[in-house]
Amino acid sequence: MSSPVEPANDTHATSGTGRSVRFRVSRFKQGDRKPHYQEYAVEVAPETTVLDALTAIRRDQDPTLILRHSCYHASCGTCGMRVNDTEVLACVTEVTELGGGPVKVDPIANQRLVADLVTDMVDFYDKFTAVDQPLVRGSDAIPAATVPPGVPGFTRFENCIECGLCLSACPIVATDPRYLGPAGLAAAQRVLEEPREADAFSVLRLTDDPQAAWRCHLAFECTAVCPSNVDPAGAIMFLRRRLASDRVKSIFGSGWRP
Ligand code: SF4
Ligand code: FES
Repeated sequence: MSSPVEPANDTHATSGTGRSVRFRVSRFKQGDRKPHYQEYAVEVAPETTVLDALTAIRRDQDPTLILRHSCYHASCGTCGMRVNDTEVLACVTEVTELGGGPVKVDPIANQRLVADLVTDMVDFYDKFTAVDQPLVRGSDAIPAATVPPGVPGFTRFENCIECGLCLSACPIVATDPRYLGPAGLAAAQRVLEEPREADAFSVLRLTDDPQAAWRCHLAFECTAVCPSNVDPAGAIMFLRRRLASDRVKSIFGSGWRP
């Protein structure tokens, strides 16, 4: 490489002398038995992000590298990955924060791997549907929304950017794919706070299950990695308190006091 990575956009404007950093990037193509690492050297400037470096690899060294990104500012959730074994958004993770390298880059865990750094998010999105918070086309949900031809719009669950980092970091999701998971449970908690059109009672009953609110082992990894302050672990604790309180009331009556 000859020159420092060009900034992805104005917010990543860089200056200073570039230095070469080694990247170990997980590679996988359909038909491979398992992923393997491939090394690249990238010259980075002080504010180069991991996403800047990966797109530079793809542009200048290896166009077969598959990754997903869109907004470049921690808004769309598509660039979630594991960098040095920690779940991050690559677009806001500066290479200089990571020490001298090499920088290890893996796809998020606990989702079916499609290719290189891209996983299939369908199971993850299904968990939102289960708690009555499906991702729907904005043009269906908001009739007045203007969506450019060929570009589907989507409604979102509050602060959650559907990055999947919490699922990747959760030790329970790693061992039990039936677990509703931190993002789905956080979505359920929001339904209880603000039901709008959703059936809050049904959603609460759905969380009262060994594979839902009671499955969490309080690792709090989800909250630690969430880039959007959703606090899924806090939401799960809220659900448990609500479920426990409802049970006590159903046994002793609503006038019961400890
Ligand atoms: S709860 Fe946080 S970590 Fe999980 S998908 Fe939503 S934004 Fe990402
Ligand atoms: S590219 Fe959109 S969150 Fe990183």
